[in-house]
Amino acid sequence: MSELLTKLIQIAPSILSADLANITQEIKKVETGGADVLHLDVMDGQFVPNISIGLPFIASIRKTTSLILDAHLMIEDPGRYIREFAQAGADWISVHVEAATHLDRVVNNIKELGLKAGVAVNPATPVSSLEEILPELDFVLLMSVNPGFGGQKFIPSVLKKIQKLRDQIALRGCPTRIEVDGNIGLDNLEQILKAGAEIVVSGSAIFCTPRGPGDVVRDMRGIATRYVRALTTA
Ligand code: DX5
Ligand code: ZN
Repeated sequence: MSELLTKLIQIAPSILSADLANITQEIKKVETGGADVLHLDVMDGQFVPNISIGLPFIASIRKTTSLILDAHLMIEDPGRYIREFAQAGADWISVHVEAATHLDRVVNNIKELGLKAGVAVNPATPVSSLEEILPELDFVLLMSVNPGFGGQKFIPSVLKKIQKLRDQIALRGCPTRIEVDGNIGLDNLEQILKAGAEIVVSGSAIFCTPRGPGDVVRDMRGIATRYVRALTTA
């Protein structure tokens, strides 16, 4: 199978659960395992009840890897900081539909800076909230846990939501891709892919297991490859 087909699914380790004191080695491990994207969770202690990494950390990481840097902004009024995250080296930026009052303006700012623009959606926010903006988006980030922390439980109703979004995207012929974030691991990855996820974020299942990040990413890549192969030979 061609490299292009296997890359239909992108694996995005979330460094929220990584050993940040050894981040360069952690990144090398997931690169060796076949990760495509590095998911960076930015939290402000306002939109979510937690504070995580910010601009200087992302700028440092940019120097150590050529992986796609995917900044998931869990911050209030994210439009204030788009230019700074672009300058720090983000390739993709997602902002929450619940946090951006002027969402269209923010999405366009991200795209004008040459980045891929995504909108993130909390578990209780319906897909219909994206109706107007959907054709503008490079990707939608569906949260499968409530944002703020790694290591939470997958919210099963999100599976239907992924399918619903996939159907809408197909119906409207948008180029938008579906990213899913929260409690994804080896045990549920296939189910999430079958629902329609194309970019899968995984934190604790990759960084908090004795198997080690490289092997877990390799196994996830194996599941994704088998899934794509089954699709293309069906
Ligand atoms: C949660 C973050 C997630 C988190 C995922 O607010 O957006 O990216 O790191 O971690 P796990 O895979 O442990 O749920
Ligand atoms: Zn995230």
